[in-house]
Amino acid sequence: MESLLVKIGGSLKGAAELLEEIAAYPGPLVLVHGGGPNIGEWLGRLGFETHFHNGLRVTPPEQMEVVEMVLSTLGKQLAHGLSARGRNAVALTGRDAGLLEARLLEPELGRVGEVSGVKTEVLECLIQAGITPLVAPIGLDGEGALNINADTAAGAIAGALSLPAVFLTDVVGVLRDPKDPATRYARLTRGEVRDLVAQGVISGGMIPKVEAALNALDRGAPWAAIARGERGVLQGVLSGQAGTRVVL
Ligand SMILES: Nc1ncnc2c1ncn2[C@@H]1O[C@H](COP(=O)(O)OP(=O)(O)OP(=O)(O)O)[C@@H](O)[C@H]1O
Ligand SMILES: [Mg+2]
Repeated sequence: MESLLVKIGGSLKGAAELLEEIAAYPGPLVLVHGGGPNIGEWLGRLGFETHFHNGLRVTPPEQMEVVEMVLSTLGKQLAHGLSARGRNAVALTGRDAGLLEARLLEPELGRVGEVSGVKTEVLECLIQAGITPLVAPIGLDGEGALNINADTAAGAIAGALSLPAVFLTDVVGVLRDPKDPATRYARLTRGEVRDLVAQGVISGGMIPKVEAALNALDRGAPWAAIARGERGVLQGVLSGQAGTRVVL
């Protein structure tokens, strides 16, 4: 069965169903997870304000520790959920074994990073051992931890491992009308993606997702798709029935 890189959206409503789907996949997987809603909830509880810029969470240095704590805990919980369903998983962040080397994206965004290097050894070792790595998108630069959008991290890792990239989220794909699932694009080229972003059809969290899909393809991923995290979705994207395929 084909190996896949699967990015799990942080908007994990119906998490149990999604964990069942991922645990049951018959081939090797490398997983990357987000944590947007949990991070937002904890920042709120601690009295921090949250701002987004082009779908990226502005991360002042004093919020970075919260981001890392929330993502790390969420990763452990997800790994446990998978292990309990028969797929042994180990939660990592980009700090582990130098996995994600990063650099500051734009100073105005605070401690937000982009991936500058992926050290794939630890992932390859785990896969060889039959263990599913689950990566939280924390990167490291000379100053410390950087918050990387989970889609961005997933795209870079898929490229580095030459794995197909499947972005599971809370919508069935890229939609012409975000409120109408019947308006899903089955396939989008880079040019079409550009036009839809320019028109404002693709907005918010969908922007880093389509960019990550294109980046994964540029870096060697054989294919990339965006689909809803629900039962049957992995077979659905493999057969081309579900989601939006992004092509060069
Ligand atoms: N054209 C579009 N089609 C579909 N969804 C869109 C579109 N434009 C914007 N979106 C938004 O993108 C969202 C998905 O991105 P979002 O960042 O919220 O989730 P995620 O990436 O799955 O989770 P996380 O960021 O926590 O990992 C959708 O819920 C939708 O609101
Ligand atoms: Mg997102």
